[in-house]
Amino acid sequence: MTAAPLSVPTLPGVLEQGGLKVPVKVTRASKLSLNVLYEPGSGVREGAVFERLILQLPDREAILSRCRIEAGQLVFLDDVFDCDALFKVGRVSNLLGFMNELPLVLAQRERIKPQFRDYVAELTYDLSVYKKFFDEQDRVLSKEAPAVAAAAQKVLLSRAGGEFFKFMDRRLEELTELVDDFTPEEHERHGYYFRRAMWPYLMAAAIMQRTNLKPRGYAGDAVMMELIYDNKYVGRYAFNKLLHKHPVEQTAAQAVRNRRVLVPKMMRETLAGSSAHPFRILSVACGPARELDAFFVDDEDYDRLKLTLLDQDEEALAAARGSVEQISRRAQRPIDVAWVNDSVRTLLRTRDLASRLGRFEFIYTMGMFDYLTPPVGKALLGKLFELLTPGGAMVIGNYHATNPSRYYMAYWHDWVLYYRTEAEMLDLAAPLSNARHTLTFDDSGCQMFLKLERP
Ligand SMILES: C[S@@+](CC[C@H](N)C(=O)[O-])C[C@H]1O[C@@H](n2cnc3c(N)ncnc32)[C@H](O)[C@@H]1O
Repeated sequence: MTAAPLSVPTLPGVLEQGGLKVPVKVTRASKLSLNVLYEPGSGVREGAVFERLILQLPDREAILSRCRIEAGQLVFLDDVFDCDALFKVGRVSNLLGFMNELPLVLAQRERIKPQFRDYVAELTYDLSVYKKFFDEQDRVLSKEAPAVAAAAQKVLLSRAGGEFFKFMDRRLEELTELVDDFTPEEHERHGYYFRRAMWPYLMAAAIMQRTNLKPRGYAGDAVMMELIYDNKYVGRYAFNKLLHKHPVEQTAAQAVRNRRVLVPKMMRETLAGSSAHPFRILSVACGPARELDAFFVDDEDYDRLKLTLLDQDEEALAAARGSVEQISRRAQRPIDVAWVNDSVRTLLRTRDLASRLGRFEFIYTMGMFDYLTPPVGKALLGKLFELLTPGGAMVIGNYHATNPSRYYMAYWHDWVLYYRTEAEMLDLAAPLSNARHTLTFDDSGCQMFLKLERP
C-alpha cells in the first residue's frame, strides 16, 4: 500500500466480496475511476471483482456497486459513478441516473397538443431539407480555393439565405398563432418538447447553443450579449451561419443594439445639465459594457467621467474590462473605473449601500430588470434611487410584453424574460413619490426605458 500525498483528498472505505472485507482508502484516479490503497496481503489483486465498495463520506455512508481492479485502478461494472462529485461535494452521482427519468421525459410527448406536434414534425422535416441543401453547397465549395469558396459562400448566404430567413419568419408567425393563448404551464411543457425535438438544430447555431446550454448558469451572459452586439455570421457551415444570424437580426436583438446608442444619449443629457466633477456613473449588471464607447466623446470626458461597473459574473466583468481597455487605448487616455463583483442579492442585503458603492449622478441598468419579479424589482429600484445625488438620473431598461421575439426566445432559445407593460413598469417606481419619471421606447418598440430623476 502506498500512501497518498497529504494534499490529495482521500476517503476511507471497505471493499466487499462474499465474506471478505478489505479496508481501503480511495483517491480520485480519473472522473470515472479510483485509486485504491490497501494493506499488502489483503487479497486485492489485479482483476479482482468486488460486490460493492462502501465509502465513508463526510456526512454518511455510501454503497457503490460492483467494481473491479483494472490496471491498478478501481472501475465500476454496473454503474458510471462521477468520482469528482465524491471528492468535491461528498455526493454519489451516477451518470446513468438520467435513465431513471427517461420514462417521465418520454411521457411528456403524450401531453403535447396534436397541432403542436404536427407543427414540430413539419418544422424539423423542413429544416432537414434546408440543411441538406446548404451542406451540399458547402461540399462543392470545399473543393474550391479559399478566396473562391468565400466569394461563393457570400452569394449563397445572401441569396439562398434570404429565402431561408423568409421560411423562418413564416414558421415563427405560425408558432405565435399556435401558442399565444397557452397558459404558462403549457408554454413550459410545449417548450420543453420543442427543444428536445429540435435539439440538433439548436446546437447548430452559436447563439442558441449558448442560450440552451447556459454555461454560466443563466441566459444573457456576456458571450451571448457579444454575439448579439456583433450581429455576424458565426460558424463554419452555411446552415449554421444562417441559423445563428437569423435570431441575432430579430427585433429583440436589435433592441439590445439600440441600447448602445440610447443609454449614452440619456447619460449625456444628464451630464449636460450637471456641474458635477467628477460625474459618477454606475452600471448595474454591466455585462460587456459595449455602450461605453459612446460615453467618451470629448477629451474632457476622460477627466470627468468616473465609472463603477457592477456584475455578479467575473466573466462579464472581464468582458467589460476588454471594452474599457479598448476605449482607453484608442484615446490613449486612462479611464477611471471601479469594478464591483456583486449580485443584486448583496445590494438588497446591504444596509448602507452608499458607503459600499458611493453616490452617483447617473445610474443605469439594462437587461437586468427583465429577470426580476415585481417585489425584487421594486426593492432594487428603491435602493438604487437612494444612491442618486440631487439632479441625478437613473434609467432602467425592460422588454415590453409585446416583444415580437418572445416565443422565438422562449421556445428556441430557452430564454424567458419577465416582460412588463407600461403600467407594470411605472408601478415599480410607485413608492418613489419624489421621483420625476418618464417612459420611452427604442425604435424597435419592444424595449422600454424608465427614467427617474431625483429633484
Ligand atoms: C442580459 S445581460 C446585460 C448586460 C449589459 N447590461 C448589456 O446591456 O449589454 C445581463 C447581465 O446581468 C448580470 N446579472 C444577472 N443577474 C444578476 C444579479 N442578480 N446581480 C448582478 N448581476 C446580474 C449578468 O451577469 C449579465 O452580465
